[in-house]
Amino acid sequence: MSDVKKLYIKTYGCQMNVYDSERMAEVMGGQGYVETKTPEDADMILLNTCHIREKAAEKVYSELGRFKPLKTAKPDLKIGVAGCVAQAEGEEIMLRQPMVDLVVGPQSYHRLPAMEAKVDAGEKALDTDFPEEDKFEKLKGRPKAQRGPTAFLTVQEGCDKFCAFCVVPYTRGAEVSRPVDRILTEARDLVERGVREITMLGQNVNAYHGAGPDGDWSLAKLIWALNDIDGLERIRFTTSHPNDMTDDLIAAHGECEKLMPYLHLPVQSGSDKILKRMNRSHTAESYLKLIERIREARPDILMSGDFIVGFPEETEADFQDTMELIRQVNYGQAFSFKYSTRPGTPAAERAQVDEAEASDRLKRLQALITDQQRAVQDSMVGREVQVLFEKPGRLEGQMVGKSEYLHAVHVAGAPVQRGDIGRVRIVESGPNSLAGELI
Ligand code: SAH
Ligand code: SF4
Ligand code: F3S
Repeated sequence: MSDVKKLYIKTYGCQMNVYDSERMAEVMGGQGYVETKTPEDADMILLNTCHIREKAAEKVYSELGRFKPLKTAKPDLKIGVAGCVAQAEGEEIMLRQPMVDLVVGPQSYHRLPAMEAKVDAGEKALDTDFPEEDKFEKLKGRPKAQRGPTAFLTVQEGCDKFCAFCVVPYTRGAEVSRPVDRILTEARDLVERGVREITMLGQNVNAYHGAGPDGDWSLAKLIWALNDIDGLERIRFTTSHPNDMTDDLIAAHGECEKLMPYLHLPVQSGSDKILKRMNRSHTAESYLKLIERIREARPDILMSGDFIVGFPEETEADFQDTMELIRQVNYGQAFSFKYSTRPGTPAAERAQVDEAEASDRLKRLQALITDQQRAVQDSMVGREVQVLFEKPGRLEGQMVGKSEYLHAVHVAGAPVQRGDIGRVRIVESGPNSLAGELI
């Protein structure tokens, strides 16, 4: 028997959960855990969960059911639930699934070692506080390991917008920005470990207003500071709210060399009536005007968005307004969802749209989006792009990376390494990716 303990983490939901899972692995690394990709040999299993839609939340329980035989075979196995379901349901999870040993909300991950000790002492551990301290400062443990070419870096957490459909303000709490110096230190450290592209994360990332050496900094100012880090080649950020697209951020898209021409800017609906009921505080027109300004600053920017169909009281006419907005924007990427009733949110109390009708609208919207995405992707054929190579492809000698526009690009037989950036001419557009040749 070796003393090395194995940790299996499964991550659901958004990129912020991916970042958090890395931090949890780091802090548990300090407790002697190494990560495993198979739950069967794990000493601890952590599910990092998402509560955004009902289906996402229910997945947790079916997944826990799958671990039952493992717990029976190895009673010492610790099973924990982290993330937004942990925050939203707390103790309920242990009542519904008694084999769960620990439940930890997103703001308490730095307390995991203490929670583990409690479980070792034969108790259950539950922590869904919103502590004052900066958890990320305490979520460091493992010696510095080499990293892949791309990394996430959470700069802002939580949300004060309270859209009528959304659980995030409840599961992640109030909007908080991390201080500038900590972000820059972490970014430099990532670059030293091999990272060439950083995606700054936040539920409302463009509302960033962290403490800097000379007062609060905006996201644009932070982008400019990252731009000065030698060895860092690409900067991205997600997710943005239309109301926080400030002038300096729009200008950065035109002027900042390392900021990539891709913007995820969810609108949710194209109907002003529905936007108002969603508490979005922007209109379809103000959103379209905003995109016009962004495209003036950066004409080739690829626009991405999120849509909800079947929000309470959405009529066919409201839905047609959304379709019209999509036609006007021409998205290169978009995510769309059928409205899911979330307990405790204002919209949950309202008259729901017929399920079959909502499904039909989603189908029509997704068909339109797919056409647009495909056309934008096809328009890349013949163009020259820069590709950051991330990993070998499925075919012998092939490498896969991402273009500036976040399209996956396959290049065959190229003498490139992971982390290289190469000039590539696009020769073909497939169903989900592009193929190109090194220039
Ligand atoms: N902070 C981001 C969104 C976070 S949630 C923003 O403001 O845009 C990611 C996406 O999930 C949302 O943009 C929305 O489209 C979708 N979503 C959130 N709550 C939902 C619900 N109750 N039902 C269906 N989709 C939902
Ligand atoms: Fe949710 Fe709205 Fe906040 Fe986005 S802005 S996280 S959709 S409440
Ligand atoms: Fe899901 Fe929580 Fe992210 S609800 S989308 S994991 S912030």
